[in-house]
Amino acid sequence: FQYTKENEEKFQITAKKYPKIDAMLLPALWLVQEQEGWVSPEAMIFVADKIGKQPIEVYEFATFYTMFNLKPIGTYHIELCKTLSCMLMGANNLKKFIKDTIGIEPGQTSADGKFHLSEVECLGACGGAPMFALNGQYHENQTVESLKNLIEECK
Ligand code: FES
Repeated sequence: FQYTKENEEKFQITAKKYPKIDAMLLPALWLVQEQEGWVSPEAMIFVADKIGKQPIEVYEFATFYTMFNLKPIGTYHIELCKTLSCMLMGANNLKKFIKDTIGIEPGQTSADGKFHLSEVECLGACGGAPMFALNGQYHENQTVESLKNLIEECK
């Protein structure tokens, strides 16, 4: 595993903001995930080497934080909020629509590898409930109709 040239530059720029290189653990893993969509064991070894930690320490962090994907996921990662405001405003309708149209439930990737659905805790956009993030981009005040349109755009 290697960072792309662009991500190597991002790593170097971000590292200047930290007092010690080993404090770069989370940003370094985040860059991996931005690049690959998930964090492979090879990438963990790469990060460990880069910031002077043991691979097991990187593994401990990567497996502690639920936002890191530890296996490949679909091209489009839907993170559907399941917390109170979103649930009250219809998150379950969105989940059902995803199941009916794409055929996946939380934790699953579609057979064509395009979509992966995760159910997540509050993403801090409760005023826009129900909402989800699609590859990190927030989509608020969603309806089955707006979700349908978005899925069509992704296909
Ligand atoms: Fe869904 Fe807060 S409850 S964003």
